[in-house]
Amino acid sequence: MLRIDLTGKRAFVAGVSDDGGFGFAISKALAEAGATICLGSWPPALGIFTKLMERGKMDESMNLSDGRKLEFEKIYPLDAAYDTLGDAPAEVRENKRYKEVGDFSIEGVRGLIEKDFGATPLDIVVHSLANAPEVKKPLLDTSRAGYLSAVSVSAYSMVSLVRALGPLMRPGGSFLSLTYMAGERVIPGYGGGMSSAKAALEADTRTLAYEAGRRHGVRVNTISAGPWASRAASAIGFIDMMINYTKANSPLPRSIDASDVGNTAAFLASPLAAGITGTTVYVDNGYHAMGMAVTPPAP
Ligand SMILES: NC(=O)c1ccc[n+]([C@@H]2O[C@H](COP(=O)([O-])OP(=O)(O)OC[C@H]3O[C@@H](n4cnc5c(N)ncnc54)[C@H](O)[C@@H]3O)[C@@H](O)[C@H]2O)c1
Repeated sequence: MLRIDLTGKRAFVAGVSDDGGFGFAISKALAEAGATICLGSWPPALGIFTKLMERGKMDESMNLSDGRKLEFEKIYPLDAAYDTLGDAPAEVRENKRYKEVGDFSIEGVRGLIEKDFGATPLDIVVHSLANAPEVKKPLLDTSRAGYLSAVSVSAYSMVSLVRALGPLMRPGGSFLSLTYMAGERVIPGYGGGMSSAKAALEADTRTLAYEAGRRHGVRVNTISAGPWASRAASAIGFIDMMINYTKANSPLPRSIDASDVGNTAAFLASPLAAGITGTTVYVDNGYHAMGMAVTPPAP
């Protein structure tokens, strides 16, 4: 039987701070396939995340199908806005949520992974994070600072992650990020420069696939996911409308489940996808292929 077998492989998944988003679903699918999982978690959310786990609030979602429990080898603090600790302004470094966690920069995490596991300990790196301080503002009203922040945290962070972790990857390694169709088509309300960030992320997927492929022998892909009511998506404010609209107007009239994305990520990370790189893979029930709405808008 053809199986997704990630036994003996180690993944670093950046952007998990609860059990409701794609990063968690991807971690679970990678673990189902046999990989071990390390996380990168945003310092402002890290405390709540560890408390949720300690208090058993995530026990049910940590169950794997064969009776095992999802475990995290390590959870590293990571603020993907900063390449080095020196890049973080003093007010961030001294903030109570950051002060005690050590080096939370991308280079800091690289150093910790090397210290904990050696020179080439990684096979899979997942970038499942995004942030835009002005996401609720139309692009036209977004400040320069808000726009640059969205692109910095949500797109440049992938460039930085590939640069920092590429040398730590074993042969056949795979990088993956998460994008959204708003990078290619207009999604009214997806503001603050997030659409620009996703466009950059998708373009960079191609260039990084070429450059990191030649330099490190790794693959770089992105999954364009359909709408899912994660914490980040719910914060934008119209996720339920997006889910209903997309369900009604997709070739497959169903909502996506985070596990659809998780399973695709496991495939892309596996040797079965050895020839796939530089690609945007749609996990959206085919919505991207539509050119016209099927149902009339609700009154
Ligand atoms: N939910 C959707 O509808 C949808 C659709 C397509 C693509 N995506 C993408 O999927 C990815 C994961 O998002 P999600 O919807 O699963 O939500 P999520 O809330 O589970 O994940 C977003 C994560 O980003 C982290 N984060 C925010 N700023 C950060 C920073 N500076 N440094 C490090 N981490 C930071 C948050 O703590 C959170 O864990 C994002 O790239 C998102 O744009 C989401």
